[in-house]
This record gives sequence, structure tokens and C-alpha cells, in this order.
Amino acid sequence: MHAGGAARLRTVTLAVLTLSLTAAATGCGNDSGGQSGEVTVGIALPTTKQTRWIADGNNMEKLFKEQGYKTDKQYAEDSVEKQVEQVEAMIDRGDKLLIIGAVDGFELGDALQKASRAGVKVIAYDRLLLGSSNVDYYASFNNYKVGELQARYIIDKLGLKKGGNAGPYNIELFAGDANDNNVRGFFSGAMDTLNPFIEDGQLEVPSKQTRLSQVTTFKWQADIAQETMTTRLNDFYKGSSTVDAILAPNDGIARGLIKALKKDDYGTTAKPMPIITGQDAETESVNEIIAGEQSMTVYKDTRKLAEVAVKMAQDILSGKQPEINDKTGNDNGNKVVPAYLLAPVSVDKSNYKKLLVDSGYIKASDLD
Ligand code: GAL
Repeated sequence: MHAGGAARLRTVTLAVLTLSLTAAATGCGNDSGGQSGEVTVGIALPTTKQTRWIADGNNMEKLFKEQGYKTDKQYAEDSVEKQVEQVEAMIDRGDKLLIIGAVDGFELGDALQKASRAGVKVIAYDRLLLGSSNVDYYASFNNYKVGELQARYIIDKLGLKKGGNAGPYNIELFAGDANDNNVRGFFSGAMDTLNPFIEDGQLEVPSKQTRLSQVTTFKWQADIAQETMTTRLNDFYKGSSTVDAILAPNDGIARGLIKALKKDDYGTTAKPMPIITGQDAETESVNEIIAGEQSMTVYKDTRKLAEVAVKMAQDILSGKQPEINDKTGNDNGNKVVPAYLLAPVSVDKSNYKKLLVDSGYIKASDLD
């Protein structure tokens, strides 16, 4: 090759080498293993109506920023259409990875396909994404255990024993939104614990509403749960018959139920408040627990869930295998999604200080 040709070859080689290093450093091109500086992570969350989701989004944003990533956080306010638009816009803007807390896990299939075609990886956050092969990982809590803890609390507080003859105690059942996949886990965890006591007569359900389809609450709305409870009190609790326990699936619904019960003179000596469960350790409900109106909540440390999701994202973006602890338990109807599930914890008056205040999850100054 003549001298000029050799020089030209050296120049071309140098240019190609520079290009590929730049591509690697900025995460451009197919390899999304770029340095964090140029990588944006899309964070699509369902709503701000429960305070936990606000904390989830803030926690993840803070952790990503500390690692040098950019973030694109959006809330859909329980609108499926809005969330589809938000997720598709994230892909169009070139977000390299999506973390999605779905409004409805079944409704993002097309957007997930678009993500896959763009080489964008997807982590399902707290709520499993359903029916699609384009979900790479799942980070959540053990939803079945949430329900089990709620039911176990009721059983223990009523002093029920398997084969015992206590009661019969009256219980009413409530669940969250029918389109939230978590609700199936919560309810089956609770009913697997409660059913033996319903079958042996120690627990009775005067309203006869015992199937999930009968007890879901549209978009987890507390006011709807309140109305339903008022109707059940009017229809099934006439005269001296009172409610002894209520399976409330989260704190927002628990507070709605407490409003209905107080309107019916519960919370007095004549009519003590029934055992009422909850979930999310919301400050407002911890105050209700201190006041003796809500009995317990299930604490899911969303700071830890944010750490898990962010670490998963970092591993994926740097071409590493994320840590998972549940390989088989999360079939989304299309594939078994590898997951990392954290353990929920039962909290009541006896341990909220240690678990929530001492851990910094809730500020003492925010409590009554
Ligand atoms: C669930 C979530 C719970 C509960 C509910 C309402 O999917 O796991 O923590 O708060 O949504 O947002």
C-alpha cells in the first residue's frame, strides 16, 4: 500500500476507534452499557394518591442522580391512557431503561413492545406487568405475605385457634382495585389464612361478600369503600349485631372504613372499633393506630424497594446480571419474570416507634 494510503488507513482506524469509545461512553448505539452521565432512566408510576408512590419516585430519583444518571419521572394519576402516553414518550426521548409501576398491568403491551424494539429494558416496579414477554425484571414485596400478615393479625387478636370454638365473630372483607395485579396476591394470602376459620364457623361474614370479585374497590378509592361499608352496616348489622373485624387491604381504604364506622357510633364503649388492618404505613394511618382506631398496617419499606430497583437498573445498564431472589414465582401470563421480592412487616401500636420512627421512615414530629 503506498504511503498516502497507509496514512489514510491510520486516520480511518483512529476515527472508528474514537467513535466506538464515544458510543460506549455515552450509551449511544445498541450497547446501552454506557456511562451513567448520558443515560436517562424513565420512571413511570401509577398515582400520587397514596403517599408511598410519591416516596417511591423521590427515592429512586435521588439514588439514580447520586450515581450520575438522569431521570424522567412521571405520574399517571390512575389513568391507563395517560401512562401509555408517558411510557411511549419516554421511549421516544431515548430513555435507556424504564421502571414502571403500572396503573393496570395488562394495558401496556404495545408500549412494552415499542420499548423492546428500541432496545429499552423494563423493570416492573411493585406491580407486575402482565401478558407481555417484554418485561425483563420485577422488583416488589411478597404480596401474598402482605395478606397473610393482615389475616394473621385478625386471627391472633380475636384469639382464634384451629379447631377451636371461639366466636362466631363477624368479619367483613375488602380488597383493592380489580386491575391491580397485587390485589390477587394480597387477597389470596389473607383468605388462605381466614378461610379455615370461616369454614369452621368461628368467623362469619354477614354480608356474604367473600369472593374477590365481590369485594374489590375501584382505584383503591377510600370514599367508595366508605359507602360500601355504610351499606353493609345498614343491610346486615341491624340491632345488636356488630362487626368484630375488617380485612382492609391498605391504609387509605382502612381510613374510609373508619369514617363509615364512626358514623354508625363505632369507637364508643357500647360499640368498640372492630379490628381493622391496613398497608403502606402511611403517617395518617399510623396516627389512627396511635388513636386506637386502625389496628395495624403492613409496612413495606419503599426506601429498600427503590434501592433494589435502582441497583437492578444499574446492573442491567452495565451488562451485569441483577440479583434476584425469586426465579419462579412471578408468571405474568406470558413468561416467568425474574424478581427480587422484599419482606413486608406487621406494625401496630406495640412496634411502630421501633420500626417506623427509629428507622427514619416516619418523623416523630409528624405523629400525634
Ligand atoms: C398496591 C400497592 C400497595 C397499595 C396500593 C394502592 O399495588 O402495592 O402498596 O398502596 O397499590 O396504591
